Amino acid sequence: MLCPRVGAPRRQFIIVLNALILFVFLYHLPHTIGPFSPQIYSIIPKSPLQQFYEEPEKSGLITKEIQSHLLSQARKLSSVEFPRHIYQTWKTEKLPEANYDRQKSWFNNNPSHEYTLFTDITALQYVTKNFNTTDPYIVHLYKNFPQRILAADLLRYLIAYTSGGLYVDLDTICTAPVDQWMPRSIGHQQNIKMEDINLVVGLELDALNTTKYPDKWIAKNKFSKRIQFLQWSIYAKPGHEVLRRMISSIQETAHKDISDIVWRRKDVSSLRYNQIKILDTTGPFRWTKVIMGYINQIEGREVGLLEYSGIKEAKKIGDVLFLPVNRWSPGVNHSDAGGVETSFLVHYYGATWKKNLS
Ligand SMILES: *[C@@H]1O[C@H](CO)[C@@H](O)[C@H](O)[C@H]1NC(C)=O
Ligand SMILES: *[C@@H]1O[C@H](CO)[C@@H](O)[C@H](O)[C@H]1NC(C)=O
Ligand SMILES: *[C@@H]1O[C@H](CO)[C@@H](O)[C@H](O)[C@H]1NC(C)=O
Repeated sequence: MLCPRVGAPRRQFIIVLNALILFVFLYHLPHTIGPFSPQIYSIIPKSPLQQFYEEPEKSGLITKEIQSHLLSQARKLSSVEFPRHIYQTWKTEKLPEANYDRQKSWFNNNPSHEYTLFTDITALQYVTKNFNTTDPYIVHLYKNFPQRILAADLLRYLIAYTSGGLYVDLDTICTAPVDQWMPRSIGHQQNIKMEDINLVVGLELDALNTTKYPDKWIAKNKFSKRIQFLQWSIYAKPGHEVLRRMISSIQETAHKDISDIVWRRKDVSSLRYNQIKILDTTGPFRWTKVIMGYINQIEGREVGLLEYSGIKEAKKIGDVLFLPVNRWSPGVNHSDAGGVETSFLVHYYGATWKKNLS
């Protein structure tokens, strides 16, 4: 009756191995006969990466050709006006209490602008209507990202790309009418023509001084580069290349990460990112990289961080107007940001998303 003791570890190993094989097998059964909710998989796109989003830099063009392509795109956009429309997003029409007054500051300062608050329901209708035929994979990701911060980030780029105008987070107040932003930014710089600007981008961080801001400080404060652009406010003409690239790059990253998933279904519903990966996929890290990559190409040269640093009024590079830190991010304890007096908007760091990552 006594089992030989030496056999036990091996038997246990075989049992565990069998369980593991069964688990993997069950996990990869088609969902129609598996225990998984079918509606999550109702939009499975045939071809996830659509032609629509193909990157020109990947189609074998040389630097000069890419540059002239981008310049001609920018020239075409210069005949378009910035839409006078402000977009914000929240889960429902019912806002967190503090945000009603903030929302009102946008109405009061901009009576001639249209205003849209997208809720979860109307945002999904908007995304579906605008992307279902050209790029169902974007709709699929938007609908099913389990960490909704990814969807909320993606949504702002989809809005700015499709409709243009101003996207701005709900936890902000308007401190200067939007119509004054560009004239006041350009100020006395006669070399800048307003119609040549197609996108306005705000600096969040200007910290090139390594004595004042050691690497430790950069890491601790969760910045990527020493120059970082913010994405709680995006002011754009519709169809801008930077936004097309941002959307395309989110799509490609998600698609790759999904196909790299092991031990779980290779589906967006299994996708989990940590904080840094979120910042680097849909957040300001990625936004900064995409913008700098675009600027290098439209300028046809490597534009160093130094050229974005120490901006006093505003600076036009390519067809993008860069605003100093103070305009959209006043009062922070770095980057020589001034107070609220010279700002266009104030951002209250809501950051509820960090608490809801799972
Ligand atoms: C999205 O497009 C697919 C096929 O192109 C179509 O079958 C489906 O009804 C569309 N969905 C919506 C909500 O428009
Ligand atoms: C960098 O910061 C240090 C400390 O604040 C300061 O003494 C130094 O002058 C700064 N360097 C430059 C080039 O601004
Ligand atoms: C702001 O930064 C300075 C030095 O970098 C530090 O001494 C000060 O405590 C900071 N203030 C706040 C409110 O964080």
